[in-house]
Amino acid sequence: MEQILLKHTRPGRCLSFDEYRSAGGFGALAKALGKMTPAEVQQNVIDSGLRGRGGAGFPTGKKWSFVPRDLPGPRYLICNCDEMEPGTYKDRVLLERNPHLLVEGMALACYALGVRHAFIFVRYGYEQAAENLRSSIAAAHSSGFLGDNILGSGFTLELGVHQSAGRYICGEETALINALEGKRANPRAKPPFPAVKGLWGQPTVVNNVETLANIPAIINEGPLWWKSTAATPEAAGTKLFCISGHVVNTDCFELPLGMTLGEIIDGPCGGMRPGSRFKACIPGGASTPYFTDAHRDVSMDFDPVAKAGSRLGTGGIVVFDQSTCMVAVTLNLIRFFARESCGWCTPCREGLPFVRHILERIESGRGEAQDIEILREHVQMLNYAFCALAPGAMGPVEGLLNHFGDELREHISAGSCPFKGDRLP
Ligand SMILES: Cc1cc2nc3c(=O)[nH]c(=O)nc-3n(C[C@H](O)[C@H](O)[C@H](O)COP(=O)(O)O)c2cc1C
Ligand code: SF4
Repeated sequence: MEQILLKHTRPGRCLSFDEYRSAGGFGALAKALGKMTPAEVQQNVIDSGLRGRGGAGFPTGKKWSFVPRDLPGPRYLICNCDEMEPGTYKDRVLLERNPHLLVEGMALACYALGVRHAFIFVRYGYEQAAENLRSSIAAAHSSGFLGDNILGSGFTLELGVHQSAGRYICGEETALINALEGKRANPRAKPPFPAVKGLWGQPTVVNNVETLANIPAIINEGPLWWKSTAATPEAAGTKLFCISGHVVNTDCFELPLGMTLGEIIDGPCGGMRPGSRFKACIPGGASTPYFTDAHRDVSMDFDPVAKAGSRLGTGGIVVFDQSTCMVAVTLNLIRFFARESCGWCTPCREGLPFVRHILERIESGRGEAQDIEILREHVQMLNYAFCALAPGAMGPVEGLLNHFGDELREHISAGSCPFKGDRLP
């Protein structure tokens, strides 16, 4: 299996700047600045089929094309490393092992977009990642890959690291922009989209860490080679899947995009733990509807996962075995989302705590038959919240209703949780 992002790295160790250079690092930037126009770099990204790895899967080259070329004043690139979605830890792994790939990817993106100042918004608590980035940026500066007149090309770029004060909503791109401006981190109305009016009112592209870290390989090896590293002709590139739960190997794996769920679980994950049978999984981070055994043949790529009723999201897969109470899992997730609601709009501020209350009632054996319908209504209602946090929060509830209705009804009719005392240690 082709390794693009984790190549040359190993767990628990950060690749040094010199090691990255010896492995060809910053060769893509030298190639682009020496031989390619910004428009050619952008075209390579379009041709690669790269889709954003931050959750929504929006085509990266297309997003870049929304930045107006003729607007006066600066434009910005922001790398989103907020990564607070439960079950997702891929960006941390990448930055703890090879922060230089992101620095080079950002330099290429900035060259394509005409950006001179870019920022990396790092999750509160990701101290090692932030430190690695700062030292990589300093080393890139002293080697002439950042700063004024990079490699004599006339292109100038400064990168800054900003550490978040720590809320999940800061990962939403417009809330992130508010946070970076020193304002309360609530989302902004869209349109205008950040590509037109973002940081300090100027055109701004927000991209995920993994998205940007793929760009050096696209430029070095060519967009068609990069695309072909996927498992199916429809998919493009590799993907970092971070796995947790009841499987033998829980780790962050770089795998061809489009492998089936079953292939991922039986292959790199080493199958289920002894005594465990697969019951369900969160396929793409905490805000995605569950998959069950019936989904083992789904190709883990954006469109097939959506067609099967969920989202590829961040690629954070959490696997549950037969001993898991799916009502308890959903309650646990809803507690997180209700706590992290920014409080800006009423459906989310009031609705998520109410959904938490209903689930608490059901899990503790005090549920009533009409609670199931109330949950269903809230899945619909929260689609009309101001930002994507609330519909995302209801993803697991939707999965619970669609695939584990019997389990819900059993809690209500028995007046207790049928799984109590049946959990693995
Ligand atoms: C509540 C919420 C949290 C988010 N958290 C993150 C995050 O931590 N990292 C991220 O890259 N995108 C996150 N996103 C998605 C961003 O808004 C944005 O779509 C993404 O950074 C764009 O990058 P991409 O196109 O490279 O995927 C979040 C979205 C929402 C609604
Ligand atoms: S949906 Fe929730 S997180 Fe989003 S703006 Fe409304 S209150 Fe804030």
